Amino acid sequence: MQFFVDTAIADEIRELNDYGLLDGVTTNPSLIAKSGRDFKEVVAEICQIVDGPVSAEVAAMDHAGMMAEARVLAALADNVVVKLPLTLDGLKACRQLRADGIRTNVTLCFSANQALLAAKAGASYISPFLGRLDDIHLDGMALIHDIRVIYDNYGFDTEILAASIRSGNHVKEAALAGADVATIPPAVIRGLASHVLTDKGLDQFVRDWQATGQSIL
Ligand code: G3P
Repeated sequence: MQFFVDTAIADEIRELNDYGLLDGVTTNPSLIAKSGRDFKEVVAEICQIVDGPVSAEVAAMDHAGMMAEARVLAALADNVVVKLPLTLDGLKACRQLRADGIRTNVTLCFSANQALLAAKAGASYISPFLGRLDDIHLDGMALIHDIRVIYDNYGFDTEILAASIRSGNHVKEAALAGADVATIPPAVIRGLASHVLTDKGLDQFVRDWQATGQSIL
């Protein structure tokens, strides 16, 4: 499973990329607002930091506006993926951008039928929002399972990008469900490396090593 980081904070992206943990980045208008940065400037910077796909979302709601914005965003860097909302206008833009060779990430997906439409429109990625379904007491992970079956039934090449991930358990379950990618908040990515027994075991090893009085160097 590929790991994308779900943030527009360049320093966090740089740090995680230096650990070799990142395959790409996703942003959305809320994350851009949180960064406090100019949208196009921060997307261009992120595209310099990581080699993989960087999702940048259109703001327009209508097809013509989405197409105009998509062309501006796609021109920022070769690794920009244009993020489109899962609406009829968004799907129309998705189909056209596919024909133009521009990669897309169709976002705000909350049902298997929406995911089916995105695949038929030629989306590069579909973003089902797990956490937001869980928030309203629905089963976000069941949606990933359903999309996996549907895409495999018909051989769609759209990649399932598990989004709105809130915990390490979401990451594990999305991997088990066969998601191609998980986009994960920075703190959750860091948390994947930690375990209370790892910390406890290391404390013991450090103490025992010190007691030997030896040095490796
Ligand atoms: O980037 C889209 C998605 O991951 C947002 O997550 O936590 O705002 O539901 P969240």
